[in-house]
Amino acid sequence: MSPLTPGHGPATALRAPTILVFDSGLGGLSVFRELARTRPDARFIYAADDAGFPYGPLAEPELTARVLAVVGALIARLAPDAVVIACNTASTAVLPALRARYAIPFVGTVPAIKPACESSLTRQVSVLATPGTVRRDYTQALIRDFAGNCRVTLIGSTRLAPLAEAAMAGESVPDEAFAQEIAPCFVREGRARTDTVVLACTHYPLVLDRLERAAPWPVRWVDPAPAIARRMGSLLGPVAFAASPMPLRLFSTGAPLDAAMVERLTGRKARAGEIVSLDPAVA
Ligand code: DGL
Repeated sequence: MSPLTPGHGPATALRAPTILVFDSGLGGLSVFRELARTRPDARFIYAADDAGFPYGPLAEPELTARVLAVVGALIARLAPDAVVIACNTASTAVLPALRARYAIPFVGTVPAIKPACESSLTRQVSVLATPGTVRRDYTQALIRDFAGNCRVTLIGSTRLAPLAEAAMAGESVPDEAFAQEIAPCFVREGRARTDTVVLACTHYPLVLDRLERAAPWPVRWVDPAPAIARRMGSLLGPVAFAASPMPLRLFSTGAPLDAAMVERLTGRKARAGEIVSLDPAVA
């Protein structure tokens, strides 16, 4: 796919590719920030299934049906050129079903276990995710194939994504709440202790400053967003033209997203949130 579409008139038209970025909540904004920085020529839509949040505790069949319904409604309405599933919990379960159903490219977000294990010096790596991502065969396969001689500790937190949402909405969340959720990531075995933590839920990079403050010792936090932006870059090809960034369109399934909050988190102008309507059987 190329953002350059030959025009039919005398001049060649440049068409901005439309990219849909999807998550259960605000977490995917951590991926959007990086995509927006690297693709000034794209038109972005951000969609949150806030009525279905959190995805972490959902069983796989329920989650698959939900994501197919919501992403399907968004594709029908907005006809994006590419979709980024900016959610580990959904990507590790639903990508094959989405790819089987639609011809457009899907870029997923999965735990960055390979780069984390390649760069860990102490060979102690933790993966901070949701319970769903921890349970997935996909995650187990990443560990089997790419952990090398690292010891990988998987932590599935039920509370951390909701805490991140609360912090983003301006509610006060005490440091101890973050400290409690991340504590199991910090493992000491003999003289070796964890030196790398994979942020395997897109909500977590949005509260990285809070996680750093709550950490018992400094570690390298691995955020997959730059790798996802590189993947999108290889799908779209080189940036076609320099344009002033187009305002972000916002969609959700529950309450309209707060454009001012999104602007504060991303630095990108956003339009007033719109609601995507779902089949009543799903909503
Ligand atoms: N942001 C999502 C992820 O990357 C999960 C949050 C949720 O539990 O819905 O896994």
